[in-house]
Amino acid sequence: MWTRQLLKVTLFWARLGFISASASASTSPSSILFEGGTIIAFNRTTEALEVIRNGSLLVTGDRIAGIFSAGASLPPLSARTERVDVTGKIISPGFVDTHRHGWQTGLKTLASNTSLVEYYSRYSEYAAAGVLTPDDVYIGQLAGLYESLNAGVTTTLDHAHHTWSNATAEAGLRASIHSTARVFWAYTFHNVSGFEIPEQLGNFRDIATKASFRGSATSLGIAYDDFGRNPNAAEVRSIIDLAEEFNVSVITTHSVQGLWGLDNAPEDFEALGILNSSIPIVFSHASYLTPVGAQLLRANNQYISITPESEMHYGHTHPESRLIQDQASLGVDTHLTFSTDLLTQARLWLQVTRRQLYAHVLNDWRVPANNPMSAYQAFMLATRHGGLALRRGHELGILAAGAKADLVVWDAATSPALLGWIDPVAAIILHASVADIEHVLVDGVFRKRDFRLTNPEYYTAIQDRLRASAARIRKVFVDRPLPVVSGTYGGTGNGTGGFEYSPALTVDTLRGPGNGYGDVFWT
Ligand SMILES: *[C@@H]1O[C@H](CO)[C@@H](O)[C@H](O)[C@H]1NC(C)=O
Ligand SMILES: *[C@@H]1O[C@H](CO)[C@@H](O)[C@H](O)[C@H]1NC(C)=O
Ligand SMILES: *[C@@H]1O[C@H](CO)[C@@H](O)[C@H](O)[C@H]1NC(C)=O
Ligand SMILES: *[C@@H]1O[C@H](CO)[C@@H](O)[C@H](O)[C@H]1NC(C)=O
Ligand SMILES: *[C@@H]1O[C@H](CO)[C@@H](O)[C@H](O)[C@H]1NC(C)=O
Ligand SMILES: *[C@@H]1O[C@H](CO)[C@@H](O)[C@H](O)[C@H]1NC(C)=O
Ligand SMILES: *[C@@H]1O[C@H](CO)[C@@H](O)[C@H](O)[C@H]1NC(C)=O
Ligand SMILES: *[C@@H]1O[C@H](CO)[C@@H](O)[C@H](O)[C@H]1NC(C)=O
Ligand SMILES: [Zn+2]
Repeated sequence: MWTRQLLKVTLFWARLGFISASASASTSPSSILFEGGTIIAFNRTTEALEVIRNGSLLVTGDRIAGIFSAGASLPPLSARTERVDVTGKIISPGFVDTHRHGWQTGLKTLASNTSLVEYYSRYSEYAAAGVLTPDDVYIGQLAGLYESLNAGVTTTLDHAHHTWSNATAEAGLRASIHSTARVFWAYTFHNVSGFEIPEQLGNFRDIATKASFRGSATSLGIAYDDFGRNPNAAEVRSIIDLAEEFNVSVITTHSVQGLWGLDNAPEDFEALGILNSSIPIVFSHASYLTPVGAQLLRANNQYISITPESEMHYGHTHPESRLIQDQASLGVDTHLTFSTDLLTQARLWLQVTRRQLYAHVLNDWRVPANNPMSAYQAFMLATRHGGLALRRGHELGILAAGAKADLVVWDAATSPALLGWIDPVAAIILHASVADIEHVLVDGVFRKRDFRLTNPEYYTAIQDRLRASAARIRKVFVDRPLPVVSGTYGGTGNGTGGFEYSPALTVDTLRGPGNGYGDVFWT
């Protein structure tokens, strides 16, 4: 089992400031009191949500100091306490996105009708290697994380596969730190041209031994997609050893079984002896997870990241993910193709799961007598379960005394979308949108306030730089030939592939013969 840990690493970690609180919190008011709102709190004893109406939430430094019901006496407040009236509004935990690739922002709208096979050859980490400069990676990652903050996503597990050189790796990390979002930045080891894995191991070591994380909300993780079916056992071992040596905050992998062949299954981790690890392991997608894999996740308390929109858009699908929601969190994945809004993911997941479970009954010519999934469950997946997936359930994804002050204030008082609500969880999951997000705090600091990101540069220099970068890099991607999709799928590694390609029937929005599929607008 994977419990061999080095005491000296702990000391080393502390020295680098990996486990210190946010330094930026010291420049903000010592305390913030949100008064008069509806608070979606979490009861640590019952492990259930508890709605506090007309309550108060006190933030001190980077933590929630207390949550108080109407009329409860508050602790003595310092003179520097800022009071924020949230009458009629809803306070929820920030969303936790457990799978995303922040660097891809500048490719937005290029992949609106892409398939997974096309994605690999045109837009993936392999296709982008050598195209994006360190500056492109920096601005894409930074703008992408601001998009997350704007959407109330306070924590992101970034499967950072922009590691095409020492410089692009460091650029994406720097952007993550500068974003002020809580980022589990997972350095990706992969065989990209011109940057071999041995060099990546050295680069990772360099990054891990620098003190650049001090005072930031970013921590260092590892991503790798070749734990399964990899004949190069030494490569796998060297990555595992590095994860252990530096006690990384997370290990993550793309796990897409079935015909796709990118297994990285819980069974593979079990065989390597690393599934029972004190380091959280997040299995992204986990499409075609087996029943045995699911039991292994439960036994070892590891989580999957369901990315509902991605799995539908590309077709990896999620035929069995509903069966493992007790070990599941939610993610976004390639936000070049859709939004970074985890609320939309939660809503999609809720409704697609309902449809699937209704179909089981209807297909037997019976009428469903109940509704199979609740808004409450969708809310938990998007918040608390993300915290649990990262093994930070005591402080992330919940509103409770002692938890991180990562929270969202929803304008449930005046938004036309929310008029008439009584259940705040249903209001968010089924009626609200990003437009209703008034304030976002990370580590007790306003990162969005009064509907605007608080970094003024976002609206000037950052947007300008992203637009310029996008205009430059998109030329390369647009001019790439479409892949020839015929014969058989090559698979993704040893023993996979060999399945025949077959066209998917396209729909037609025009009556009669002809092609109503439409065009894409790249010029
Ligand atoms: C590893 O880091 C986690 C927090 O990310 C901490 O709880 C744990 O004690 C650390 N383990 C060691 C051996 O340092
Ligand atoms: C949590 O729930 C328990 C059991 O219902 C209750 O006694 C306790 O007061 C609750 N805690 C908070 C902080 O509300
Ligand atoms: C909310 O609670 C405060 C006391 O904490 C009270 O003064 C106020 O009237 C309450 N408002 C509503 C709408 O119940
Ligand atoms: C990248 O960093 C590694 C580790 O420090 C170093 O060995 C390697 O030479 C660097 N590569 C380049 C191109 O600078
Ligand atoms: C395929 O993977 C297995 C298990 O990892 C390994 O034993 C075998 O040598 C590999 N075969 C090839 C052709 O790489
Ligand atoms: C990466 O490339 C090396 C050298 O060609 C090879 O030994 C290794 O198996 C490759 N790893 C993967 C995951 O493809
Ligand atoms: C995981 O390891 C711990 C000891 O570190 C042990 O107590 C536990 O039973 C193991 N769990 C499984 C599923 O092997
Ligand atoms: C996307 O649409 C364009 C224009 O209709 C078409 O050329 C392209 O083949 C489509 N891509 C896929 C993967 O269907
Ligand atoms: Zn992904």
